[in-house]
Amino acid sequence: MAELTRFRCNGADREVEAGDRLLIDVLREELRLTGTKLGCGTGDCGACTVLLDGRPVNSCLVFAAECDGGEVRTAEGVSEGGAGRVLAEELAAAGAVQCGICTPGMLVMAAALVASRTGGAPDRAEIETALAGNLCRCTGYLPIMRAVTAAARRVGEGTP
Ligand code: FES
Ligand code: FES
Repeated sequence: MAELTRFRCNGADREVEAGDRLLIDVLREELRLTGTKLGCGTGDCGACTVLLDGRPVNSCLVFAAECDGGEVRTAEGVSEGGAGRVLAEELAAAGAVQCGICTPGMLVMAAALVASRTGGAPDRAEIETALAGNLCRCTGYLPIMRAVTAAARRVGEGTP
């Protein structure tokens, strides 16, 4: 019998026959978490970003077996509450979701940035640095910047 990989995903215990499959394939095809998008497949676009043990990773470059014993959070889990939910609202309000391919990865990465802040909203340079690995072909980035800034402000003020 094939060895099982066990990890928590969005708060639920999961058990998969990972084999040599990539994390993105297990998430999308087996766990039906299709919020995680496949863009380039080579680690260049950030569309597939998820959190692995709290750290953003490109799920197109991670073998699912590497998650054994770990904790994965996808855009679905991140947007359920806290900074992720606020970001989802602000991205929608700012018109920062057009084709939507980049949005889940942006949301995961930006939520990690906002949640890591202890004082004040991140400035433009910090947001640009945090999102440098997340490419968007549609928006020109300005609505995304506005949304992240607004979300950080709301979270910082404790009024999400
Ligand atoms: S699909 Fe993973 S970085 Fe582009
Ligand atoms: S909204 Fe289309 S790639 Fe960003």
